[in-house]
Amino acid sequence: MAQIIINNVQKVFKTPGKDVIALKDINLEIKRGEFVCLLGPSGCGKSTLLNAVAGFALPSDGEITVEGKNIIGPGPDRGMVFQEYALFPWMSISQNIAFGLEVQKKSKSEIDSTVNQLLALLHLTDFRDRFPKDLSGGMRQRVAIARVLALDSPIMLMDEPFGALDALTRRNLQDELLRIWQKLGKTILFVTHSIEESIYLADRIVVMTYRPGTVKRDHIVEIPRPRDPASPEFNKLKRELGLLVMEEQQRHSNDEMKLATGD
Ligand SMILES: Nc1ncnc2c1ncn2[C@@H]1O[C@H](COP(=O)(O)OP(=O)(O)OP(=O)(O)O)[C@@H](O)[C@H]1O
Ligand SMILES: [Mg+2]
Repeated sequence: MAQIIINNVQKVFKTPGKDVIALKDINLEIKRGEFVCLLGPSGCGKSTLLNAVAGFALPSDGEITVEGKNIIGPGPDRGMVFQEYALFPWMSISQNIAFGLEVQKKSKSEIDSTVNQLLALLHLTDFRDRFPKDLSGGMRQRVAIARVLALDSPIMLMDEPFGALDALTRRNLQDELLRIWQKLGKTILFVTHSIEESIYLADRIVVMTYRPGTVKRDHIVEIPRPRDPASPEFNKLKRELGLLVMEEQQRHSNDEMKLATGD
């Protein structure tokens, strides 16, 4: 059985004047250990879907199950990494990573050993006593990933986690994430609006439509890893997906134009 089953999910936001149908008829099955990217332009419901899987904002209709259990709220089986580094500025790097384990009342020796392993895994050992403000964006995002890994959730949900990083740092963290994913066997549901990022990372890319958010294409990426963004097969897929995303981007722009002109 698939690990995550998204069954006929709809999400409607009631706003004054009109209802926004953010998600409609979403059906997806995600296997244990699969790396899935949700791809689409702004406003197509990527975060809404991820938040529904996280249990932060439940669907208006339909259901999502993890390991056969209905999601009714956040749980330790799912960890979320946000675009903005959600770190505590008053805590050192190692304290930030330890935080969730302390909440869980783990023993000091267990916490120390997990934190040390994660510091090493994410090449953060030399920064353990520093504070978030002393770190670059890329480093902070490594800490955010370590913090989620500390809880050892089998599922990682990531909402444009590398969106704010420069191109080189981003590639570096993508490589790190692939390495960790392969080593730890997590299931990853990763939101991005970058076509290249989705092809570089994913086993499978789910392209979404703009308003209402539906599944436009569910594509298995067959290119072997490590993937070379300069290779012909990479570029062929980039063009194919580019056309799909562009159509939705166009619908988004038309909508904004209508809003601007008051139509
Ligand atoms: N709390 C809310 N109330 C009303 N409408 C909302 C709310 N949250 C999201 N929406 C609307 O639902 C749609 C989907 O939003 P969502 O944030 O999921 O898109 P997204 O694909 O993550 O976009 P982005 O790439 O900009 O992050 C958008 O049209 C948005 O305006
Ligand atoms: Mg979003």
